[in-house]
Amino acid sequence: NSSAENEHLVSDGARLYASAERKLPPSGKSLNITVVGRQFVWQFVYPGNEPDGLGAPYSYEEMVVPTKTTVTLDIVSADVVHSWWVPQLGGKFQAVPGYHNYTWFKIEKPGIFRGQCALICGRGHARMIATVKAVPPAQFEAWLAYQKTLIAEANAAAQVARAKLGSQIGAGQVENP
Ligand code: CUA
Repeated sequence: NSSAENEHLVSDGARLYASAERKLPPSGKSLNITVVGRQFVWQFVYPGNEPDGLGAPYSYEEMVVPTKTTVTLDIVSADVVHSWWVPQLGGKFQAVPGYHNYTWFKIEKPGIFRGQCALICGRGHARMIATVKAVPPAQFEAWLAYQKTLIAEANAAAQVARAKLGSQIGAGQVENP
């Protein structure tokens, strides 16, 4: 990256993120994560193997990202309006139902950055915390592979549980406790 390219970036030498002057990420390695705001948790969906995103790895509350990589965020909502805000990684970005909002950041060194939903969104608003954990790329790849395994195991276990429930009682009797 030339210094000219970076002159409008907000930077303290360790982090870059979107500013009012520059909306596009620097070129180079990148990773897109979909940030889903829902009452009352942040979900982070990573690129999956299938075009429709089915089977894509995800996490709740803690977003793990590789260092030295531009991370682009696609911010959406599953219910009401939330606000994605990790102060050390840029401004507030609303998660609005039916709408996509975008931002990005790039973290040079491993670290933990804490945030919080910045818009009152219901009784559980205060619980909507978010942590961005930056780790070296190799560690990120290992984490992502492990998440995939966990999710595959959970899906298989859920299938078994559903089959078992289905054989014991009618599906109509299954209710939340
Ligand atoms: Cu979500 Cu406040």
